[in-house]
Amino acid sequence: MIDLKIFSRDIDKLSKVRTPKRLFAFIEDEVAAFFEVSYLDLFVLNDSETEYALRENITRVKDMLRVARDERLDLEDPIIVYLSEIKKAILPKELNESLAVTLLQSRQKVLSSLRDELIERRAEICVPGFVKDKLVAVLIMGKKISKEEFSHQEVELFSLFAAQAAKVIYNFDLLKKEVEQFVKSLRKINNTLEEKDPYTLGHSSRVAQFSVIVGRKFYDRLEDIPYGEISLYYAAELHDVGKINLPDSILKKKGPLNDEEYNEMKKHPLESVKIINPLEKWFGREILDAVLGHHENHDGTGYPHGKKGDEINILAKIIRVSDSFDAMISDRPYRKALIHHKVLSELKKGRGTQFDPEVIDAFLETYKEGLFKDIFFSQLESKA
Ligand SMILES: [Fe+2]
Repeated sequence: MIDLKIFSRDIDKLSKVRTPKRLFAFIEDEVAAFFEVSYLDLFVLNDSETEYALRENITRVKDMLRVARDERLDLEDPIIVYLSEIKKAILPKELNESLAVTLLQSRQKVLSSLRDELIERRAEICVPGFVKDKLVAVLIMGKKISKEEFSHQEVELFSLFAAQAAKVIYNFDLLKKEVEQFVKSLRKINNTLEEKDPYTLGHSSRVAQFSVIVGRKFYDRLEDIPYGEISLYYAAELHDVGKINLPDSILKKKGPLNDEEYNEMKKHPLESVKIINPLEKWFGREILDAVLGHHENHDGTGYPHGKKGDEINILAKIIRVSDSFDAMISDRPYRKALIHHKVLSELKKGRGTQFDPEVIDAFLETYKEGLFKDIFFSQLESKA
């Protein structure tokens, strides 16, 4: 017997899942494995809302590999039509009962074509996932390997799961559309900045890439942040957009800044936060703190607020290191790029003062593992 309490606890874990990638991993690790179903197909409404495409498939029984199941369901498909109507799980047993008592011929036709499709797919259960009355996802599963029937409780859990899965997919699609459009306009600011100071060409994009790779070493902490990895990417990419409000006399200055200019420069994290503020709706306060804190030092000597240690957001700590690293491996008007081993020893020197020790260790480890190589190559290519 399956202990459903364990799966209910897993369903709670699902509330933390926000991206389709994690959702599919959850389906594979928890749902399909837990219930040992012969197969599981997850169909998702496509962007143009013209059909449902197979987004996840897990087949656990070899026989099922030979069952040719269509990888799309159009809007007239009996499964889609029926689920949209009854808004709850379809079980072949209940379907047969309805067929037996239905007298209306047109209704019989609908039900029998649905039954034929379920037989063809060897489906034991079809569960809908609705978001605001829109059927977003359809979960279809085959028999359990044990041949046991699905209990009512299990059907209820699948329904909860499908609803949550639909919400994750729906919200993520919306996020992609809305956020990308907004970020696109901010990338234009980055381009303008890079034109003003060609030495920073590609800087924001590289900082974003370094940050995300290092961020994987802080998987658990990023999981607690709304869309943690994506939030880190955008915060790192947009950390300096506020510099657009600085006068050219500071932005284009070749030599070191005087005190007055430096004080002006120190305002840019606050300016960046003002510009990226609409992203809070999607990523929460964390994305703002990430940008605001990208010049804070571990020992409290940074700016704009002189925060220290764990008062500084984890995303900000990661961007802090990536930003400094990229600045050192790039040419600057006042010096040539430093060679990597020199840069790494500079980073080590700042461990515990300028930089968070854990983040520095993770960064150096990532470097040693060769995970930044692709970024270095593209930097070389753009130079050439
Ligand atoms: Fe900055």
